[in-house]
Amino acid sequence: MTRETVWTPISEILNGRKTNETVNIRGWIYRTRSSGNIIFIIVRDATGVLQCTITKDNVSDDEFNNAKKALIESSLELRGVVREDKRAPGGYEIQVNHVNIVNFAEPFPIVKDYSPEFLLDNRHLWLRSQKLTSVFKIRSTIVGAIHKFFRDRGFYEFDAPVLQPNQCEGGATLFEVKYYDKKTYLSQSWQLYAEAGIFSLEKIYNMGPTFRAERSKTSRHLSEFWMAEMEAAWMNLYDVIDVAKEEIKFIVEEVLKNNKRELEVLGQDVKKLERVVDSEIPTITYTEALNILKEKENMNVEWGKDLRTIEEEKLMGHFDTPVVVTNYPVEIMAFYKPRDPKDPKTALCFDMIAPEGYGEIIGGSERSLDIEDMTKRLKTMGENVENYQWYFDLRRYGSVPHAGYGLGVERVVAWICGLDNIKDAIPFPRTMLRFRP
Ligand code: 4AD
Ligand code: MG
Repeated sequence: MTRETVWTPISEILNGRKTNETVNIRGWIYRTRSSGNIIFIIVRDATGVLQCTITKDNVSDDEFNNAKKALIESSLELRGVVREDKRAPGGYEIQVNHVNIVNFAEPFPIVKDYSPEFLLDNRHLWLRSQKLTSVFKIRSTIVGAIHKFFRDRGFYEFDAPVLQPNQCEGGATLFEVKYYDKKTYLSQSWQLYAEAGIFSLEKIYNMGPTFRAERSKTSRHLSEFWMAEMEAAWMNLYDVIDVAKEEIKFIVEEVLKNNKRELEVLGQDVKKLERVVDSEIPTITYTEALNILKEKENMNVEWGKDLRTIEEEKLMGHFDTPVVVTNYPVEIMAFYKPRDPKDPKTALCFDMIAPEGYGEIIGGSERSLDIEDMTKRLKTMGENVENYQWYFDLRRYGSVPHAGYGLGVERVVAWICGLDNIKDAIPFPRTMLRFRP
């Protein structure tokens, strides 16, 4: 095989486009078994898995012996003829007439110990599994869909620094970084800088790494995750809620269009996702959510308390699409969320909650324009308001109503893929207990 060799992706063979043709493929040994004069090697590449049959008579002795020796995860190149074969997984196989082992793999460490911790320790190898391969193909679709969604609607991509001197979502989850002889923090959100950006670009978005020193070891929290945020001048709470609903539907639609096979590998019910695209996403208030919990679940949540996981789960038992919840109590909200003039105990804010226990996938709000109120709230939190004067300048020079939200990429991936834990929604998860490999 030479530099000019044409390599056929396995998916093209499985699509039936190469039947009875001679092809070259390359990839890794997914499974292998031999008996006497015949070796069956299941080869995987990025596009699929395919059975390749090597018969002693069809290859040289060296090739046959090497193929027999090669362990799983060895890399190899093969040439052969594609045949339709009902017995083979996927319905096709290659009858091999040339095989070259590129690298003889050492015995692969992931054989029978599938405990979650072992798989996380070997994440760099476990990434090759069919499960994670499927998740990361879907994640790629989702990330692509987010960019497409905003760009198609006239939003500009705008970047914020990752090193930020301010908090945005509360000091408790800030990661401190030594910055020469001073200290600064890793970004908790793009938002405060985005609020500066809208005065020139009006409608902007971003997707970037976000850091929270979460003390909780839940199946929903990462210390490093990707947030996709938007911010727009002249929009109010209800405008951005509409954008968020449309975005979620668009993301699900793109996954349904591009990843049917991966959803199948993950055992995810396509009908559930189709329902999200076809139905109206309801909007209720926090107070209405408490009423549902009280009347239908006999759960009493004290007005003013945030919804806990168990309460969100019970609430979502009454819906089979995501739900938008607005008007949370202002006291438990970030400093920049304004009071609702129609109901001043509550803020002009919303969360979108996913069904089936995946929790909050989007959080957003209108932005306060009231320097005095924000100053008071920051002081209550023990913040040095001097650090926020640049942010208040945005209210001093041509202030406009504006709003935005952030979508947790891994939460959406976990929900769409039906994952047990958010850790499998990102290639190398960082949590309170893990920052390796
Ligand atoms: O609700 P949050 O904290 O909102 C903000 O940060 C706003 N500044 C966004 C904005 O208005 N521009 O976070 C937004 C979303 C959550 O709804 C959740 O999906 C996700 O980010 N998220 C996390 N995902 C994984 N691990 C964590 N520790 C997360 N914290 C938040
Ligand atoms: Mg939130």
